[in-house]
Amino acid sequence: MSPASVEIKTLKIDGRDVGAREDQTILEVALENGIYIPTLCHLEGLTEIGACRICLVEVKGTPKLLPACVTRVQEGMEVMVNSERLQNYRKVIVELLFSERNHICSVCVSNGHCDLQSMAQKLGITHISVPYRHPHMPVDASHERYINDHNRCILCTRCVRVCHEIEGAHTWDVTGRGSQAKVITDLNTAWGESDTCTSCGKCVQVCPTGALSEKGKSVSEMSKRRQFLPYLTLMREGRP
Ligand code: SF4
Ligand code: SF4
Ligand code: FES
Repeated sequence: MSPASVEIKTLKIDGRDVGAREDQTILEVALENGIYIPTLCHLEGLTEIGACRICLVEVKGTPKLLPACVTRVQEGMEVMVNSERLQNYRKVIVELLFSERNHICSVCVSNGHCDLQSMAQKLGITHISVPYRHPHMPVDASHERYINDHNRCILCTRCVRVCHEIEGAHTWDVTGRGSQAKVITDLNTAWGESDTCTSCGKCVQVCPTGALSEKGKSVSEMSKRRQFLPYLTLMREGRP
């Protein structure tokens, strides 16, 4: 679509009048206007998949909560991004993520550098009110430089998308359904045996938790190097 044919929509976000291009999402417009909406699976420059549901917002006249990262703006929309109802839903979503695998922060390489942990802190979560599932998930340490600990994975698929859309290797995929879902490398072979992985490390650096980490890091040492993130949008130009 040429820029000349893009329509401008006007809407309200948290009572503020904002203007947007018709092809923009609520999240994009909110960010442009300095309005915070929490996110986990979203990463600017990667395709949006609407997986984590942390970015749910209320839209007047719609009974359902809508994910801001994949919902396009519409003329006259009235969006609420920070109501008590939303806060409660977000807390439940984060609690469910914590309960699903073995997110024991005190023994995690990413303790203190983890998006899930900081989201829980922002939302004021001090304990989990649902039962832990404690699944037995494997750890893949076969790669010479990196480790994949499925116990820390929240299935945001940032790794899948950055590897496919930016690096062009498409080493990652997701297999299984529901609680059995997990990210895999090269049709479920060990990462260290991957024919496609270039060892670029992009997946490790965009992973929001301690699921993907560099070898040799001990508890709390793994901070992600995210300097290249602002350039993701540029890097993907020309790619499908
Ligand atoms: S290191 Fe690079 S090529 Fe290998 S899986 Fe990660 S993003 Fe893909
Ligand atoms: S390994 Fe990390 S980046 Fe990949 S899906 Fe799991 S949490 Fe997300
Ligand atoms: S950031 Fe919107 S669903 Fe994850």
